[in-house]
Amino acid sequence: MRRGMRAGVLILWTVLVAVSVISVADEPKELKDAFASRFRVGAAIGTHHTMGQEPESLALAASQFNAATPENLLKWQAVHPAPDRYQFEPADRFVAWGEQHGMFLVGHTLVWHSQTPRWVSQGTDQKPLDRDALLDRMKGHIETVVGRYRGRIQAWDVVNEAIDDQGRLRSAVPEGGSPRRFAPWYSPIGDDFIEMAFEFAHAADPNAELYYNDYNEWFPAKIEAISGLVRRLQSKNVRIDGIGLQGHWGLDYPKLDEIDHMLTEYGKLGVKLMVTELDITVLPSASNGTSADVNARATGGDRLDPYRDGLPDAVQRKLADRYAAIFGLFVKHANTIDRVTFWGVHDGHSWRNHFPVRGRTDYPLLFDRRLEPKSAFSAVVGTVRP
Ligand code: G3I
Repeated sequence: MRRGMRAGVLILWTVLVAVSVISVADEPKELKDAFASRFRVGAAIGTHHTMGQEPESLALAASQFNAATPENLLKWQAVHPAPDRYQFEPADRFVAWGEQHGMFLVGHTLVWHSQTPRWVSQGTDQKPLDRDALLDRMKGHIETVVGRYRGRIQAWDVVNEAIDDQGRLRSAVPEGGSPRRFAPWYSPIGDDFIEMAFEFAHAADPNAELYYNDYNEWFPAKIEAISGLVRRLQSKNVRIDGIGLQGHWGLDYPKLDEIDHMLTEYGKLGVKLMVTELDITVLPSASNGTSADVNARATGGDRLDPYRDGLPDAVQRKLADRYAAIFGLFVKHANTIDRVTFWGVHDGHSWRNHFPVRGRTDYPLLFDRRLEPKSAFSAVVGTVRP
Protein backbone atom coordinates (compact mmCIF):
# COMPACT_ATOMS: atom_id res chain seq x y z
CA MET A 1 0.00 0.00 0.00
CA ARG A 2 1.44 3.40 -0.92
CA ARG A 3 2.22 5.81 1.96
CA GLY A 4 -0.50 8.34 0.95
CA MET A 5 -3.12 5.64 0.73
CA ARG A 6 -2.07 4.22 4.13
CA ALA A 7 -2.43 7.67 5.68
CA GLY A 8 -5.88 8.01 4.11
CA VAL A 9 -7.03 4.67 5.55
CA LEU A 10 -5.67 5.68 8.96
CA ILE A 11 -7.56 8.99 8.90
CA LEU A 12 -10.79 7.25 7.83
CA TRP A 13 -10.40 4.66 10.62
CA THR A 14 -9.74 7.40 13.19
CA VAL A 15 -12.85 9.30 12.07
CA LEU A 16 -14.99 6.16 12.25
CA VAL A 17 -13.79 5.32 15.77
CA ALA A 18 -14.34 8.93 16.89
CA VAL A 19 -17.86 8.96 15.46
CA SER A 20 -18.80 5.70 17.14
CA VAL A 21 -17.29 6.82 20.48
CA ILE A 22 -19.19 10.11 20.25
CA SER A 23 -22.48 8.41 19.37
CA VAL A 24 -22.17 5.91 22.26
CA ALA A 25 -21.22 8.76 24.60
CA ASP A 26 -24.17 10.78 23.24
CA GLU A 27 -26.70 8.03 23.79
CA PRO A 28 -28.96 9.06 26.67
CA LYS A 29 -28.46 6.76 29.64
CA GLU A 30 -31.90 7.41 31.06
CA LEU A 31 -35.25 6.79 29.45
CA LYS A 32 -36.86 9.81 31.13
CA ASP A 33 -34.26 12.09 29.53
CA ALA A 34 -34.38 10.43 26.14
CA PHE A 35 -38.13 11.03 25.82
CA ALA A 36 -38.37 14.23 27.89
CA SER A 37 -39.74 16.30 25.02
CA ARG A 38 -42.18 13.56 23.91
CA PHE A 39 -43.84 11.79 26.84
CA ARG A 40 -43.24 10.57 30.37
CA VAL A 41 -41.71 7.13 30.78
CA GLY A 42 -42.81 5.12 33.81
CA ALA A 43 -42.61 1.74 35.48
CA ALA A 44 -44.79 -0.43 37.69
CA ILE A 45 -43.37 -0.63 41.19
CA GLY A 46 -43.93 -3.84 43.15
CA THR A 47 -44.95 -4.23 46.77
CA HIS A 48 -41.57 -5.92 47.35
CA HIS A 49 -39.94 -2.67 46.19
CA THR A 50 -41.82 -0.43 48.57
CA MET A 51 -41.24 -2.84 51.43
CA GLY A 52 -37.48 -2.55 50.88
CA GLN A 53 -36.78 -6.00 49.42
CA GLU A 54 -35.10 -4.92 46.18
CA PRO A 55 -33.25 -1.64 46.78
CA GLU A 56 -31.07 -1.92 43.66
CA SER A 57 -33.95 -2.23 41.24
CA LEU A 58 -35.84 0.52 43.07
CA ALA A 59 -32.78 2.77 42.64
CA LEU A 60 -32.72 1.83 38.95
CA ALA A 61 -36.39 2.82 38.68
CA ALA A 62 -35.69 6.15 40.38
CA SER A 63 -32.93 6.94 37.90
CA GLN A 64 -34.67 5.79 34.71
CA PHE A 65 -38.30 6.80 35.07
CA ASN A 66 -40.33 9.92 35.83
CA ALA A 67 -43.67 8.19 36.42
CA ALA A 68 -44.66 5.27 38.63
CA THR A 69 -47.68 3.02 39.08
CA PRO A 70 -48.02 0.55 41.96
CA GLU A 71 -48.31 -2.91 40.41
CA ASN A 72 -50.57 -4.37 43.10
CA LEU A 73 -50.68 -2.46 46.37
CA LEU A 74 -53.62 -0.16 45.59
CA LYS A 75 -55.87 -2.89 44.23
CA TRP A 76 -59.01 -3.28 46.32
CA GLN A 77 -57.97 -6.64 47.78
CA ALA A 78 -54.60 -5.20 48.89
CA VAL A 79 -55.63 -1.82 50.24
CA HIS A 80 -59.12 -2.64 51.56
CA PRO A 81 -59.14 -6.33 52.49
CA ALA A 82 -62.12 -6.25 54.87
CA PRO A 83 -65.19 -3.99 55.13
CA ASP A 84 -63.80 -1.88 57.96
CA ARG A 85 -60.09 -2.42 57.39
CA TYR A 86 -57.74 -0.51 55.10
CA GLN A 87 -54.07 -1.39 54.76
CA PHE A 88 -52.21 1.73 53.71
CA GLU A 89 -48.62 1.12 54.74
CA PRO A 90 -47.26 -0.14 51.38
CA ALA A 91 -49.13 2.61 49.50
CA ASP A 92 -47.91 5.29 51.94
CA ARG A 93 -44.35 4.13 51.30
CA PHE A 94 -44.90 4.10 47.55
CA VAL A 95 -46.21 7.67 47.56
CA ALA A 96 -43.37 8.91 49.82
CA TRP A 97 -40.80 7.27 47.52
CA GLY A 98 -42.44 8.76 44.42
CA GLU A 99 -42.51 12.24 45.93
CA GLN A 100 -38.88 11.95 46.97
CA HIS A 101 -37.97 11.29 43.34
CA GLY A 102 -40.34 13.78 41.73
CA MET A 103 -42.38 11.06 40.03
CA PHE A 104 -45.77 11.50 38.37
CA LEU A 105 -47.80 9.00 40.40
CA VAL A 106 -50.67 6.97 39.00
CA GLY A 107 -53.08 5.11 41.30
CA HIS A 108 -54.02 1.67 40.02
CA THR A 109 -56.88 0.84 40.25
CA LEU A 110 -60.21 1.76 41.89
CA VAL A 111 -62.85 -0.37 40.15
CA TRP A 112 -61.98 -3.77 38.66
CA HIS A 113 -63.80 -7.09 38.40
CA SER A 114 -60.64 -8.87 39.50
CA GLN A 115 -58.68 -8.70 42.78
CA THR A 116 -61.81 -7.43 44.51
CA PRO A 117 -62.82 -9.35 47.63
CA ARG A 118 -66.07 -11.30 47.58
CA TRP A 119 -67.46 -9.32 50.54
CA VAL A 120 -67.71 -6.21 48.35
CA SER A 121 -70.79 -7.57 46.60
CA GLN A 122 -72.33 -9.22 49.66
CA GLY A 123 -74.15 -8.17 52.80
CA THR A 124 -73.30 -9.55 56.26
CA ASP A 125 -75.82 -12.33 55.48
CA GLN A 126 -73.76 -13.21 52.34
CA LYS A 127 -76.70 -12.22 50.14
CA PRO A 128 -76.01 -10.05 47.06
CA LEU A 129 -76.27 -6.32 47.67
CA ASP A 130 -78.56 -4.06 45.67
CA ARG A 131 -77.58 -1.06 43.54
CA ASP A 132 -77.72 1.54 46.30
CA ALA A 133 -75.72 -0.52 48.76
CA LEU A 134 -73.09 -1.30 46.12
CA LEU A 135 -72.82 2.33 45.07
CA ASP A 136 -72.32 3.20 48.75
CA ARG A 137 -69.49 0.67 48.94
CA MET A 138 -67.88 2.00 45.76
CA LYS A 139 -68.20 5.59 46.96
CA GLY A 140 -66.78 4.83 50.41
CA HIS A 141 -63.80 2.98 48.92
CA ILE A 142 -63.01 5.69 46.38
CA GLU A 143 -63.48 8.55 48.87
CA THR A 144 -61.18 6.89 51.37
CA VAL A 145 -58.41 5.79 48.99
CA VAL A 146 -58.36 8.77 46.61
CA GLY A 147 -59.02 11.16 49.50
CA ARG A 148 -56.03 9.88 51.46
CA TYR A 149 -53.66 10.71 48.59
CA ARG A 150 -55.47 13.84 47.36
CA GLY A 151 -52.95 16.17 45.73
CA ARG A 152 -50.18 13.54 46.02
CA ILE A 153 -51.25 10.85 43.53
CA GLN A 154 -51.77 12.88 40.36
CA ALA A 155 -53.84 10.44 38.33
CA TRP A 156 -56.00 7.35 38.74
CA ASP A 157 -56.88 4.34 36.63
CA VAL A 158 -60.47 4.74 37.82
CA VAL A 159 -62.00 1.77 36.04
CA ASN A 160 -59.96 -1.16 34.73
CA GLU A 161 -60.98 -3.69 32.05
CA ALA A 162 -64.73 -3.06 32.15
CA ILE A 163 -65.27 -4.04 28.52
CA ASP A 164 -64.79 -7.57 27.22
CA ASP A 165 -63.17 -8.62 23.93
CA GLN A 166 -66.51 -8.42 22.12
CA GLY A 167 -66.99 -4.84 23.23
CA ARG A 168 -69.65 -5.65 25.86
CA LEU A 169 -69.77 -3.96 29.25
CA ARG A 170 -68.98 -6.44 31.99
CA SER A 171 -72.10 -5.33 33.84
CA ALA A 172 -74.13 -7.25 31.26
CA VAL A 173 -75.63 -10.41 32.78
CA PRO A 174 -74.33 -13.46 30.88
CA GLU A 175 -76.76 -15.44 28.75
CA GLY A 176 -74.99 -18.76 28.72
CA GLY A 177 -71.76 -16.93 27.82
CA SER A 178 -68.48 -16.87 29.67
CA PRO A 179 -69.04 -16.41 33.39
CA ARG A 180 -65.84 -14.34 33.46
CA ARG A 181 -67.76 -11.51 31.85
CA PHE A 182 -69.96 -11.35 34.88
CA ALA A 183 -68.81 -9.12 37.70
CA PRO A 184 -71.11 -9.63 40.68
CA TRP A 185 -70.79 -6.09 41.84
CA TYR A 186 -71.29 -4.36 38.48
CA SER A 187 -74.53 -5.95 37.33
CA PRO A 188 -76.73 -4.90 40.25
CA ILE A 189 -75.48 -1.32 39.78
CA GLY A 190 -76.10 -1.35 36.04
CA ASP A 191 -74.29 0.10 33.05
CA ASP A 192 -73.66 3.46 34.68
CA PHE A 193 -71.22 1.86 37.15
CA ILE A 194 -68.35 3.39 35.16
CA GLU A 195 -69.67 6.90 35.16
CA MET A 196 -70.50 6.68 38.88
CA ALA A 197 -66.92 5.61 39.62
CA PHE A 198 -65.56 8.60 37.69
CA GLU A 199 -67.93 10.96 39.52
CA PHE A 200 -66.86 9.61 42.92
CA ALA A 201 -63.17 9.88 42.01
CA HIS A 202 -63.59 13.44 40.77
CA ALA A 203 -65.38 14.44 43.97
CA ALA A 204 -62.61 12.87 46.07
CA ASP A 205 -59.82 14.78 44.28
CA PRO A 206 -61.05 17.43 41.81
CA ASN A 207 -57.51 18.00 40.50
CA ALA A 208 -56.61 14.37 39.78
CA GLU A 209 -56.52 13.13 36.19
CA LEU A 210 -58.92 10.25 35.63
CA TYR A 211 -58.38 7.41 33.19
CA TYR A 212 -60.15 4.37 31.77
CA ASN A 213 -57.66 1.47 31.39
CA ASP A 214 -57.98 -1.75 29.35
CA TYR A 215 -56.21 -4.57 27.45
CA ASN A 216 -56.55 -5.95 23.89
CA GLU A 217 -57.24 -2.33 23.12
CA TRP A 218 -56.49 -2.73 19.39
CA PHE A 219 -59.41 -5.17 18.85
CA PRO A 220 -61.87 -3.38 16.52
CA ALA A 221 -64.80 -4.14 18.87
CA LYS A 222 -62.88 -2.60 21.75
CA ILE A 223 -61.87 0.48 19.78
CA GLU A 224 -65.53 1.05 19.08
CA ALA A 225 -66.71 0.35 22.62
CA ILE A 226 -63.97 2.32 24.43
CA SER A 227 -64.39 5.27 22.05
CA GLY A 228 -68.15 5.12 22.64
CA LEU A 229 -67.64 5.07 26.39
CA VAL A 230 -65.34 8.11 26.30
CA ARG A 231 -67.78 10.05 24.10
CA ARG A 232 -70.66 9.11 26.41
CA LEU A 233 -68.81 10.40 29.47
CA GLN A 234 -67.77 13.56 27.63
CA SER A 235 -71.35 14.22 26.50
CA LYS A 236 -72.49 13.97 30.13
CA ASN A 237 -69.69 16.25 31.33
CA VAL A 238 -68.19 13.47 33.43
CA ARG A 239 -64.48 14.15 33.82
CA ILE A 240 -62.28 11.71 31.87
CA ASP A 241 -58.73 12.76 31.04
CA GLY A 242 -57.35 9.77 29.26
CA ILE A 243 -57.35 6.20 28.05
CA GLY A 244 -54.82 3.71 29.37
CA LEU A 245 -53.73 1.16 26.77
CA GLN A 246 -52.10 -1.62 28.72
CA GLY A 247 -49.79 -2.94 26.01
CA HIS A 248 -49.17 -6.54 27.10
CA TRP A 249 -47.92 -7.50 23.65
CA GLY A 250 -45.82 -10.09 21.86
CA LEU A 251 -43.15 -10.27 19.17
CA ASP A 252 -45.76 -10.62 16.45
CA TYR A 253 -48.96 -9.18 17.91
CA PRO A 254 -50.50 -6.72 17.57
CA LYS A 255 -49.32 -5.87 14.07
CA LEU A 256 -47.71 -2.46 13.68
CA ASP A 257 -50.54 -1.19 11.53
CA GLU A 258 -53.02 -2.28 14.21
CA ILE A 259 -51.11 -0.25 16.82
CA ASP A 260 -50.87 2.70 14.45
CA HIS A 261 -54.59 2.48 13.69
CA MET A 262 -55.68 2.28 17.31
CA LEU A 263 -53.48 5.25 18.29
CA THR A 264 -55.01 7.23 15.43
CA GLU A 265 -58.56 6.27 16.41
CA TYR A 266 -58.24 6.91 20.15
CA GLY A 267 -56.26 10.04 19.31
CA LYS A 268 -59.40 11.54 17.76
CA LEU A 269 -61.21 11.64 21.11
CA GLY A 270 -59.42 14.66 22.53
CA VAL A 271 -58.18 12.81 25.63
CA LYS A 272 -54.63 11.85 26.58
CA LEU A 273 -53.38 8.41 25.62
CA MET A 274 -51.18 6.42 27.92
CA VAL A 275 -49.47 3.11 27.26
CA THR A 276 -49.83 1.91 30.82
CA GLU A 277 -48.48 -1.64 31.17
CA LEU A 278 -46.03 -2.24 28.35
CA ASP A 279 -44.15 -5.53 28.12
CA ILE A 280 -43.36 -7.79 25.17
CA THR A 281 -43.26 -11.51 25.77
CA VAL A 282 -40.77 -13.55 23.75
CA LEU A 283 -42.31 -16.87 24.80
CA PRO A 284 -44.56 -19.07 22.68
CA SER A 285 -48.25 -18.42 23.17
CA ALA A 286 -50.15 -20.74 25.44
CA SER A 287 -53.72 -21.70 24.71
CA ASN A 288 -55.31 -18.44 25.83
CA GLY A 289 -53.99 -16.46 22.86
CA THR A 290 -53.19 -12.80 23.44
CA SER A 291 -55.44 -12.16 26.42
CA ALA A 292 -54.13 -10.33 29.48
CA ASP A 293 -57.03 -11.60 31.55
CA VAL A 294 -55.40 -12.39 34.89
CA ASN A 295 -57.86 -15.18 35.58
CA ALA A 296 -56.70 -17.20 32.61
CA ARG A 297 -54.37 -20.13 33.31
CA ALA A 298 -52.63 -22.58 31.03
CA THR A 299 -50.37 -25.52 31.59
CA GLY A 300 -47.12 -25.82 29.73
CA GLY A 301 -44.05 -27.92 29.29
CA ASP A 302 -40.55 -27.38 27.85
CA ARG A 303 -42.03 -26.28 24.54
CA LEU A 304 -43.58 -23.30 26.26
CA ASP A 305 -40.46 -22.38 28.26
CA PRO A 306 -37.57 -22.58 25.78
CA TYR A 307 -35.18 -19.90 27.16
CA ARG A 308 -34.59 -21.00 30.73
CA ASP A 309 -30.81 -20.91 30.22
CA GLY A 310 -30.68 -17.56 28.46
CA LEU A 311 -32.06 -15.71 25.49
CA PRO A 312 -30.43 -16.58 22.13
CA ASP A 313 -28.90 -13.58 20.32
CA ALA A 314 -31.35 -13.91 17.44
CA VAL A 315 -34.35 -13.56 19.77
CA GLN A 316 -32.65 -10.72 21.65
CA ARG A 317 -32.32 -8.90 18.30
CA LYS A 318 -35.93 -9.63 17.42
CA LEU A 319 -37.05 -8.13 20.71
CA ALA A 320 -34.88 -5.03 20.15
CA ASP A 321 -36.27 -4.59 16.62
CA ARG A 322 -39.81 -5.01 17.85
CA TYR A 323 -39.32 -2.44 20.62
CA ALA A 324 -37.74 -0.03 18.13
CA ALA A 325 -40.67 -0.38 15.73
CA ILE A 326 -43.22 0.11 18.51
CA PHE A 327 -41.45 3.14 19.96
CA GLY A 328 -41.17 4.53 16.44
CA LEU A 329 -44.98 4.57 16.44
CA PHE A 330 -45.15 6.09 19.92
CA VAL A 331 -42.84 8.89 18.77
CA LYS A 332 -45.01 9.36 15.67
CA HIS A 333 -48.07 9.75 17.94
CA ALA A 334 -46.27 11.76 20.63
CA ASN A 335 -48.76 14.62 20.25
CA THR A 336 -51.45 12.42 21.83
CA ILE A 337 -49.35 10.06 23.96
CA ASP A 338 -48.72 11.47 27.43
CA ARG A 339 -46.90 8.54 29.05
CA VAL A 340 -45.45 5.11 28.34
CA THR A 341 -45.18 2.89 31.42
CA PHE A 342 -43.42 -0.48 31.52
CA TRP A 343 -45.09 -3.16 33.62
CA GLY A 344 -42.12 -3.82 35.86
CA VAL A 345 -38.52 -2.68 36.22
CA HIS A 346 -36.57 -5.75 35.08
CA ASP A 347 -37.22 -9.16 33.54
CA GLY A 348 -36.82 -11.07 36.78
CA HIS A 349 -39.90 -9.59 38.40
CA SER A 350 -42.25 -9.43 35.47
CA TRP A 351 -45.72 -11.00 35.86
CA ARG A 352 -45.02 -12.48 32.42
CA ASN A 353 -42.87 -15.16 34.08
CA HIS A 354 -46.03 -16.46 35.72
CA PHE A 355 -48.76 -15.94 33.19
CA PRO A 356 -50.48 -17.87 31.79
CA VAL A 357 -47.99 -20.59 32.77
CA ARG A 358 -46.38 -20.27 36.19
CA GLY A 359 -42.60 -20.29 36.59
CA ARG A 360 -41.43 -19.63 33.02
CA THR A 361 -38.42 -17.48 32.10
CA ASP A 362 -39.48 -14.51 30.02
CA TYR A 363 -37.57 -11.42 28.86
CA PRO A 364 -40.23 -8.77 28.28
CA LEU A 365 -38.63 -5.54 29.58
CA LEU A 366 -35.62 -3.30 28.82
CA PHE A 367 -33.46 -4.37 31.80
CA ASP A 368 -32.25 -7.90 32.39
CA ARG A 369 -32.15 -9.88 35.63
CA ARG A 370 -28.79 -8.30 36.54
CA LEU A 371 -30.40 -4.87 36.02
CA GLU A 372 -28.27 -4.28 32.91
CA PRO A 373 -29.84 -2.51 29.93
CA LYS A 374 -30.55 -4.94 27.08
CA SER A 375 -30.11 -4.24 23.38
CA ALA A 376 -33.82 -3.37 23.41
CA PHE A 377 -32.92 -0.39 25.63
CA SER A 378 -30.55 1.07 23.00
CA ALA A 379 -33.09 0.31 20.30
CA VAL A 380 -35.78 2.25 22.17
CA VAL A 381 -33.49 5.19 22.90
CA GLY A 382 -32.37 5.08 19.27
CA THR A 383 -35.86 6.04 18.10
CA VAL A 384 -35.27 9.59 19.34
CA ARG A 385 -31.53 9.90 18.71
CA PRO A 386 -30.89 13.26 16.99
O1 G3I B 1 -48.46 -11.78 47.51
C1 G3I B 1 -48.74 -13.19 47.24
C2 G3I B 1 -47.71 -14.05 47.93
O2 G3I B 1 -47.82 -13.90 49.34
C3 G3I B 1 -47.94 -15.51 47.51
O3 G3I B 1 -46.91 -16.30 48.03
C4 G3I B 1 -47.92 -15.64 45.99
C5 G3I B 1 -48.25 -17.06 45.52
O4 G3I B 1 -48.64 -17.08 44.17
O5 G3I B 1 -48.89 -14.78 45.46
C6 G3I B 1 -48.66 -13.41 45.76
O6 G3I B 1 -49.65 -12.62 45.17
C7 G3I B 1 -49.58 -12.49 43.78
C8 G3I B 1 -49.42 -10.99 43.46
O7 G3I B 1 -49.47 -10.82 42.07
C9 G3I B 1 -48.11 -10.40 43.97
O8 G3I B 1 -47.03 -10.95 43.30
C10 G3I B 1 -50.86 -13.03 43.19
O9 G3I B 1 -50.92 -14.43 43.37
C11 G3I B 1 -50.94 -12.72 41.74
O10 G3I B 1 -52.22 -13.07 41.26
C12 G3I B 1 -50.73 -11.23 41.53
O11 G3I B 1 -50.71 -11.02 40.15
C13 G3I B 1 -50.85 -9.68 39.72
C14 G3I B 1 -52.08 -9.59 38.83
O12 G3I B 1 -52.16 -8.31 38.22
C15 G3I B 1 -53.36 -9.79 39.62
O13 G3I B 1 -53.55 -8.71 40.51
C16 G3I B 1 -49.59 -9.31 38.96
O14 G3I B 1 -48.49 -9.21 39.87
C17 G3I B 1 -49.78 -7.97 38.25
O15 G3I B 1 -48.68 -7.73 37.39
C18 G3I B 1 -51.05 -8.02 37.42
O16 G3I B 1 -51.23 -6.73 36.84
C19 G3I B 1 -52.35 -6.62 35.95
C20 G3I B 1 -52.85 -5.20 36.05
O17 G3I B 1 -53.17 -4.88 37.39
C21 G3I B 1 -54.08 -5.00 35.16
N1 G3I B 1 -53.78 -5.40 33.80
C22 G3I B 1 -53.23 -6.73 33.62
C23 G3I B 1 -51.98 -6.89 34.48
C24 G3I B 1 -51.34 -8.20 34.26
O18 G3I B 1 -52.19 -9.25 34.68
